[in-house]
Amino acid sequence: MTVEVRRATAADAWRLAASEPPGAAVAASHLRRQEAGEVLFLVALEDGEPLGSGVLVPGDVPELRHLFVAEAARGRGIGASLIGAAEREAAAMGATLVELGVGVDNPRAAALYRRLGYAETGERSKTTYEYVDRDGVRRTATETDVHMRKRLRG
Ligand SMILES: CC(C)(COP(=O)(O)OP(=O)(O)OC[C@H]1O[C@@H](n2cnc3c(N)ncnc32)[C@H](O)[C@@H]1OP(=O)(O)O)[C@@H](O)C(=O)NCCC(=O)NCCS
Repeated sequence: MTVEVRRATAADAWRLAASEPPGAAVAASHLRRQEAGEVLFLVALEDGEPLGSGVLVPGDVPELRHLFVAEAARGRGIGASLIGAAEREAAAMGATLVELGVGVDNPRAAALYRRLGYAETGERSKTTYEYVDRDGVRRTATETDVHMRKRLRG
């Protein structure tokens, strides 16, 4: 099995959207932001099938957001491949640091980031966002994120 990470195309976004709850429109929103030049929408494909994605927001310190791997494909290195690709893109933008936020209730994701060289900055933020649950019901959630950063090697 070969995992490839690249910028998502419209076709990738449609295929990712097929496994979203009805009305979620997450991949469509990432694609729109990429087309507007605001973000880089990365997709991981295994044998051509999109199994995960992430969004890199450019800036002085580019930020990796919305990292997600399909449940059945977790624990096989796809998340780490997406993070590695985001770091290479950030380095290509001239950045020396990459930042991300991880929910205080998401210790497994935090463990992955720590393993890949990210360290807590000490900053925390609270975000309220809307999402569509598995039953297609629109909900609002508030999440407290711990910020983590990694220094990229030159
Ligand atoms: C976090 C996530 C992207 C990791 O993707 P992945 O492809 O499973 O990651 P990798 O295979 O590269 O690394 C596995 C590590 O990820 C972490 N992990 C977090 N949640 C996991 C899960 N549900 N299943 C497996 N590993 C998970 C663990 O640290 C794991 O290491 P371990 O196997 O030693 O326990 C994925 O689990 C996911 O999409 N989770 C739900 C959304 C989420 O939490 N996103 C992060 C927001 S900050």
